[in-house]
Amino acid sequence: MCGIVGYVGTRPALPFLLAGLHRLEYRGYDSAGIAVVTGGALEVYKEVGNLSRLQEMLAGVDLRGTTGIGHTRWATHGEPTTINAHPHTDCSGTIAVVHNGIIENCEQLRRELLARGHRFRSDTDTEVLCHLIEEYSDGDLFAAVAAAATKVIGAYGICVVSARHPDLLVAARNGSPLIVGVGNGENFVGSDVPAIAPHTQRVIYLDDGEVVAITPEGVQGVVGKADLSARVHAVGWEPGEIDRGDFPHFMLKEIHEQPQALARTISGRLVESEGDSHLGGLNMTPKELLDVQRVIIISCGTSWHAGLIGEYMLEETARVPVEVEYASEFRYRNPVVGRGDLVIAISQSGETADTIAAVREAQRRGARVLGIVNVVGSTIARLTDGGVYLRSGPEIGVASTKAFTGTLAVLFMIALHFGRQRHTSNAEGRIMVRALQALPDQMRQILAREAEIAELAARFVNGRNALYLGRGYSFPVALEGALKLKEISYIHAEGYPAAEMKHGPIALIDKDMPVVVVAPQDSVYDKVVSNIEEIRTRRGQVIAVATEGDTEIASKANHVIYIPQTLEILTPLLSVVPLQLLAYHVAVHRGCPVDQPKNLAKSVTVE
Ligand code: M6R
Repeated sequence: MCGIVGYVGTRPALPFLLAGLHRLEYRGYDSAGIAVVTGGALEVYKEVGNLSRLQEMLAGVDLRGTTGIGHTRWATHGEPTTINAHPHTDCSGTIAVVHNGIIENCEQLRRELLARGHRFRSDTDTEVLCHLIEEYSDGDLFAAVAAAATKVIGAYGICVVSARHPDLLVAARNGSPLIVGVGNGENFVGSDVPAIAPHTQRVIYLDDGEVVAITPEGVQGVVGKADLSARVHAVGWEPGEIDRGDFPHFMLKEIHEQPQALARTISGRLVESEGDSHLGGLNMTPKELLDVQRVIIISCGTSWHAGLIGEYMLEETARVPVEVEYASEFRYRNPVVGRGDLVIAISQSGETADTIAAVREAQRRGARVLGIVNVVGSTIARLTDGGVYLRSGPEIGVASTKAFTGTLAVLFMIALHFGRQRHTSNAEGRIMVRALQALPDQMRQILAREAEIAELAARFVNGRNALYLGRGYSFPVALEGALKLKEISYIHAEGYPAAEMKHGPIALIDKDMPVVVVAPQDSVYDKVVSNIEEIRTRRGQVIAVATEGDTEIASKANHVIYIPQTLEILTPLLSVVPLQLLAYHVAVHRGCPVDQPKNLAKSVTVE
């Protein structure tokens, strides 16, 4: 969850480190720090709070060193304090380490190292790494890091510098993402592509168990792999994609990017005449598709909500039974899964630790696992037996938006293809293809109503609770709308199946309770209208998301946000957009830090 950057080259490292950390702040903002090797010594600066405080501290500091590391922290072991901020150093202050992950045997290692005379300053698990490396140091930093890595149990992505090795970074990975950016006469390390994207498009994704030595000339020392140059990949992101542009927040930019992102997701993957999708990455023959007995979708957070909608899509079109599991539960509950099951892992980042563990568990039990992933080359993308990339472009906002709609489009294309092998006719398939192709323009129509939604959002500002309701395809949309509101505006919100309301939550409804009802004109519309009546009878404030032209609902709800008509199965791709905008504007009205919500990080790389 923490962000890591490293630079080794001929230019001063500091500007690169600070700019890289700025682009990685979505990975954590409890504290930030840097270490630069300058004239045979190590200069370390760190500060609690977000990066701006470190930048203030460094204003006017002239650091010329051309090798350095930086870190932005999401605290696990040890409170967010300056002492616990990274980089951490060894007893002599010559070795500095930045770390993402959790060292599980840190207490035992700490005791052993204390007994050998090492002096600890922080409460972090990371500091044991510094002292372990110090323990093994005999002039070869690379060998010392490799030796220390053999003693550690847990997840880590680390980058290490030493005052005694002015032109060397050593990086090691086990379970936490780490990449090397390949430049000309300079090289880079990042926990994530945005750290390095403006400087190089060429990256090496490190594998678990790997330790590499990086100098200005190249990536030289390798343990466990023969030739790294063969593993250089093109990132495929334009530098401009990771800037906010004219938008005040990444989240808003990404909400507005959805029409283009969706167009990219489906581009070249639909064949209208066949009423089908072509997804080469699935790596499955028609026979293999027909042999699938059951689909299990595993994911977390917003990706889990997308999975619920995938369940409805796949069951409807392919008549195959589908289960949707939180990856964290699947991993630890001895699941019945094996051959005949197709597991689909959904993850925007491809680095969510629980989802990675669930993928491994499913594979261990013999299931074929597909990935629906946004970040190219990420762990889940590389671990799975096949899959489909979202092509949504970098998603930086902690609150996931365009990846959600991208995932829904991919799930729909998978469902369409499964359906065509089993039940769906060519004519039905063609209708579905055309409806999907129309969505980017329909999304633009919703985005054009942003001002109206922003005005509505002002009424939520002093609210403490909100209820989100929906039925059928709209139920997971209600869950997603509630998650968006709570994660960025800190208003307690619950998503519920609309019909379940009378089994409990109806007790909460009064004139102060806003109830957002996702009520498009679909097969359950009449039932949802009855639910709205029940809320109004109890003086609840109803905000309905409804289909354009629906005049009936206007007479029943307090406010209506209209979305264009589409197929019922595709409605979530439209109905979620006003809910994203609503959550965003509520958070802005309340003065919340939209892109850096408290306690959250973009990518949850610890279990
Ligand atoms: O990268 P992933 O899709 O695996 O991430 C899963 C969740 O951590 C993520 O969706 C999270 O819930 C977001 N903050 C939601 O906006």
